[in-house]
Amino acid sequence: MCGIVGITAGRDVSRDLIAGLKALEYRGYDSAGLAIIAEHGMDRRRAKGKVRDLQERLEQQPLAGPIGIAHTRWATHGVPSEVNAHPHVSGDGLSVVHNGIIENHDELRAELKTVGFEFHSQTDTEVIAHLIEHYLNAGDDLLKAVQRATQRLHGAYAIVAMSKREPERLVGARRGSPLVLGLSDDENYLASDIHALLPLTRRFVYLAEGDVVTIQSDGVQVFDADGVAVERPVKESSFSLDAVERGEYRHYMLKEIHEQPQSVADTLEGRIANGKVMPGIFGSGADELLAKVRQVQIIACGTSFHAGLVARYWIEALAGIPCHAEIASEFRYRQPVVADDTLFVTISQSGETADTLAALRMAKERSYLARLAVCNVPESSLVRESDMVLMTRAGPEIGVASTKAFSTQLTALALLAVQLAKTRGLSEERHARCVADLESLPGLIREALELNDAIKQMAESFVDKQHALFLGRGTHFPIALEGALKLKEISYIHAEGYPAGELKHGPLALVDETMPVVAVAPNDALLDKLKSNMEEVRARGGQLFLFVDRSIRHGMGEGHVLELPPCGEIAAPVVFNVPLQLLAYHVAVLRGTDVDQPRNLAKSVTVE
Ligand code: G6P
Repeated sequence: MCGIVGITAGRDVSRDLIAGLKALEYRGYDSAGLAIIAEHGMDRRRAKGKVRDLQERLEQQPLAGPIGIAHTRWATHGVPSEVNAHPHVSGDGLSVVHNGIIENHDELRAELKTVGFEFHSQTDTEVIAHLIEHYLNAGDDLLKAVQRATQRLHGAYAIVAMSKREPERLVGARRGSPLVLGLSDDENYLASDIHALLPLTRRFVYLAEGDVVTIQSDGVQVFDADGVAVERPVKESSFSLDAVERGEYRHYMLKEIHEQPQSVADTLEGRIANGKVMPGIFGSGADELLAKVRQVQIIACGTSFHAGLVARYWIEALAGIPCHAEIASEFRYRQPVVADDTLFVTISQSGETADTLAALRMAKERSYLARLAVCNVPESSLVRESDMVLMTRAGPEIGVASTKAFSTQLTALALLAVQLAKTRGLSEERHARCVADLESLPGLIREALELNDAIKQMAESFVDKQHALFLGRGTHFPIALEGALKLKEISYIHAEGYPAGELKHGPLALVDETMPVVAVAPNDALLDKLKSNMEEVRARGGQLFLFVDRSIRHGMGEGHVLELPPCGEIAAPVVFNVPLQLLAYHVAVLRGTDVDQPRNLAKSVTVE
């Protein structure tokens, strides 16, 4: 999704604006631009495509100055084009960058046209630029104009505005989309996330909903939604720059797949010991609250939703508590009936996904027992707005296709299932087995990663395919869904995940010699059922690609078979997912797609 960078300093900021945009490329975008106030006034450069296209434009027509704003756009209103790229301008010196969606833009556009403003783009953002200029023309200073303009906006926004009339400051505002303030001794910054600013500072202020901030090179001032000056806490970030660099790997996605043994170990660090899940890992007082839970409602989007689907099986099997998992964009528009003592759980890598956040806000108005977030980004909106939090500790995930975030979510959710089960009479022996399973994960994932070369070879069979089916049963049904999602996201092959038992209710009609069918076969209670489904595929000439527990390899028949180490019930879905990540990765590389930034997709979906 869109990215914002703003810098005010006593030196040329153009290079750092571009560097900031590059650090935000991972969010997904289709055009980029920047505006700078130089001696002769405000000027901007924009380009459709990548930040490097913008950079080329800047080389041809340089722009330099001590204050500027920059943006990567992910189209919502209006096609990806230079005309629709940000910054948008008004008058001869006001420019604005914006993330989010303004829902009442039509109404505001009509109003602004009647007072003489002309529109040049199809974006909702241009409305904000003209609205601010309108208030500046009426005599407001930039801060006041932004405060008044934002009061008129319905929807979600993070904006930064800059005006030639006040060439020393930037004014930012947020509601519904994140905006972070970066502090330094003699320069200050604004950005949509800290990655853009890590080379410049480690000191950040996470702005609250409705905040408006004014920054100059020598100072900052934050105002809350009522316009009252407030102090927000300054946080020191411990992110290392290495964590956001690709190192020896060709793609971030490959790096992140290989980081999984360590990320999962980090998720478990300090949370299990002596064969037990430690008390208090959900925060003080949380264990008592969790003991009261009689139902669980999980809400998430995309890959995080698939983690929730796996957790549903675990929570019901281990704790005996009814659990539902639902996609946030569906849940938030339902009228859910909340059973007594229901725990509301959100799962999100970014903690900023618009639908998940909206679902959490809706849940706050209903009678849930408590709201727990399983999240990877400290200080994200989801974390700040939840009652309880379990951080997944995957570290920064840059590839749009989520990999290590998913493994760590599963690991964290397994801790939740065990914690809930502990209060429901989980036997010592089963508790110890679950913990042993969790402890085995880093080693088992490492073994799964050793299949890399064999999977690379297997990937060649997919390169010319148009479609693929992924099958699994039980906790491996969501793994089939996730395998299909990975393949479609980055290779653009149409792929569907199915519970293997549903094969004969539809997808079997698609199976012939041209249809690759991928199945995950751990050694669990559903194995025999899965084997029958494999025979149904073979009988129709379908090409089978099997990932099987090596202890049951013999009974699996012919096909392309790769063996995985035997895994316990909790470890299996986490481990069997790894070869599917590698498969998607290698198919995408062979097809020459943009692995880390697949077309049309975004990392952090901050709009509905
Ligand atoms: C986007 C990303 C996915 C992610 C989903 C949910 O679609 O591309 O990788 O799974 O959003 O994001 P979240 O940050 O809430 O986990």
